[in-house]
Amino acid sequence: MESNKLKLRPLRPEDELSFKNAVAAFRNKMPAFEFAFDFDESIPFLEYIKKLEGWPLGKGLPDKFVPSTFLVGVVDRQIVGRLSIRHYLNDFLERIGGHIGYGVIPACRRQGYAMEMFRQALPICSDLGIQRVLITCDMDNLGSRKVIEKCGGIFENLTEDPELKVQKRRYWIDIQ
Ligand SMILES: CC(C)(COP(=O)(O)OP(=O)(O)OC[C@H]1O[C@@H](n2cnc3c(N)ncnc32)[C@H](O)[C@@H]1OP(=O)(O)O)[C@@H](O)C(=O)NCCC(=O)NCCS
Repeated sequence: MESNKLKLRPLRPEDELSFKNAVAAFRNKMPAFEFAFDFDESIPFLEYIKKLEGWPLGKGLPDKFVPSTFLVGVVDRQIVGRLSIRHYLNDFLERIGGHIGYGVIPACRRQGYAMEMFRQALPICSDLGIQRVLITCDMDNLGSRKVIEKCGGIFENLTEDPELKVQKRRYWIDIQ
């Protein structure tokens, strides 16, 4: 397994092509998954990186976002996935979204990358002062459910939210 080669880190200028390929790999895929938040191919890539750098500080956040850290999973200089950490929960995140969101590009799945990104994210959560991490997944997302459970997620409940087409399984991980 190559997952031990994966490095979870912020986006860098040299990632431009790989990042754009990753964005394209998710386009029109069902179920829909937003690989890059607030990304627009027409703005210079360096500007996008600068924008991401502001988010942990609460600067230039997209509407309704809390401060967050956006990281990419890189193997042999190729982006294989991304993970974002929300620094605290608002009402929506507490009920539905959780602290962590992640995705692995379709061609790179089933190689342990999601688990490895998740594993590397937990100490970062701890550094951010998050002691209990909430992670959620669609009730029919078996892949994500397995990742969360294998990483120690303790199931709390299934949502019963009339806003949702697919209910969410909510899990917590306590960080020592
Ligand atoms: C869910 C997702 C992140 C899994 O990524 P991945 O890199 O393929 O996951 P891993 O390789 O780390 O797999 C971890 C475990 O889950 C299992 N798994 C992964 N995808 C699976 C699937 N579709 N069905 C069943 N099991 C699956 C793996 O076999 C592995 O278990 P094992 O160690 O017993 O073999 C990926 O499918 C994805 O990006 N999906 C779209 C976006 C998404 O759903 N994100 C999560 C939002 S909560």
